[in-house]
Amino acid sequence: MKKFPEGFYWGAATASYQVEGGIDNCDWAIAAEEGRVPLCGRACDHFNRFQTDFDLAKELGHTAHRFSVEWARIEPEEGKFNEDAITHYRAVLKALNDRGLTPFVTLWHFTLPDWFYQSGGFERSDAPEVFARYASFVVQNLGDLCSHFSTMNEPNVFGSNGWLRGTWPPFKRFAVTDMVSITNSGKIYEPKSSKGIKPLFTYFRVMKNLAAAHNQAYSAIKQVNSAVEVSVVKHVIVFDANWNPFNKIKAFVANYVWTGKFMKRVQGHCDSVGLNYYFYTQFGDKREWKKTDMDWNFAPDKIYAALKMLSKYNKPLFVSEAGLADHDDSDRAEYIVRQIEATWQAIEDGVDVRGHLYWSLMDNYEWALGFEKKFGLIEIDYETLDRKIRPSAYVYKEIIENNGIVE
Ligand code: BGC
Repeated sequence: MKKFPEGFYWGAATASYQVEGGIDNCDWAIAAEEGRVPLCGRACDHFNRFQTDFDLAKELGHTAHRFSVEWARIEPEEGKFNEDAITHYRAVLKALNDRGLTPFVTLWHFTLPDWFYQSGGFERSDAPEVFARYASFVVQNLGDLCSHFSTMNEPNVFGSNGWLRGTWPPFKRFAVTDMVSITNSGKIYEPKSSKGIKPLFTYFRVMKNLAAAHNQAYSAIKQVNSAVEVSVVKHVIVFDANWNPFNKIKAFVANYVWTGKFMKRVQGHCDSVGLNYYFYTQFGDKREWKKTDMDWNFAPDKIYAALKMLSKYNKPLFVSEAGLADHDDSDRAEYIVRQIEATWQAIEDGVDVRGHLYWSLMDNYEWALGFEKKFGLIEIDYETLDRKIRPSAYVYKEIIENNGIVE
């Protein structure tokens, strides 16, 4: 029996823009109006259906749930906060608590309020203060109902898709980095960059601001409520290498650039760290990998290496996202079992992992790829908005009920 520690958190994750519907005052809504990304519209209408969605999560045995609050709803104008949005998210938290699902709140998951986006977003020199003010407001108003907050989701994905790859708002591109971009994030709009090296420096500035924003938000939150746990959610790509020493150096550098550099900047301001794991690649690899619907290597057990990588920062970890797009649910159960076995092994080997939140509770808006990719334990019919539990969700349920894997 592969047993997990007592009190281990089990559940799934979502993000506001991807599931709620009806958000029209953010950068992604602007980009959709401009025809650069698919429309999100009513998405899964989770904004109105969260109660019944959480009933399903409970039915599936979940004991925790990660979701994000929408910055554009809470601060629709710079410095002006909306009470109705707070009332809504208080109801969401209450719904989770009533069902015995421990909430994990992400304060910002990719989408920016229109006013912030249009005034430069994370290129603004005062972006860290702007973000910290928002973060402390939210925790002041929700901190009595939740004790796990993450400041931001995947800063490196946000920065690289927005400023290197140019597939996400604000669609800036540094063409030289195309050759190292390996994730499937959408269509490239800007033609080959004729702006020389400048976009790269803007990207560096954005990444620095994101780290500062996290750090300042951490301090601001602690001032209003020192009892809550504050984390950052980090996307880790496991860059590996074959026997070749040159490839080993490449992997070392890539891991530093993608993960180490940001973590070094924020490690002094984290009570815990969330791991989002999807991606394993090996330099010098000649194998033909089985692929997920995202065209990513099917490598659930490599979550072990991602957990090991983050364990260097000596913070409690939780798997804040891990999962796959699998339209016919033919591989999801195997993927879940294998990633959980590998997580168990990491715990056995001394890594402090506190929870596992599958991505995602339900199918949703997969950013620039629209609604076509199916990550959900629950299938959404976008015509009727009917929910249907996929068979793999019951495999996960059994693991949760046993708090581990029976062999
Ligand atoms: C993000 C999610 C996204 C998922 C699958 C993560 O990078 O946090 O918003 O849907 O991966 O691509």
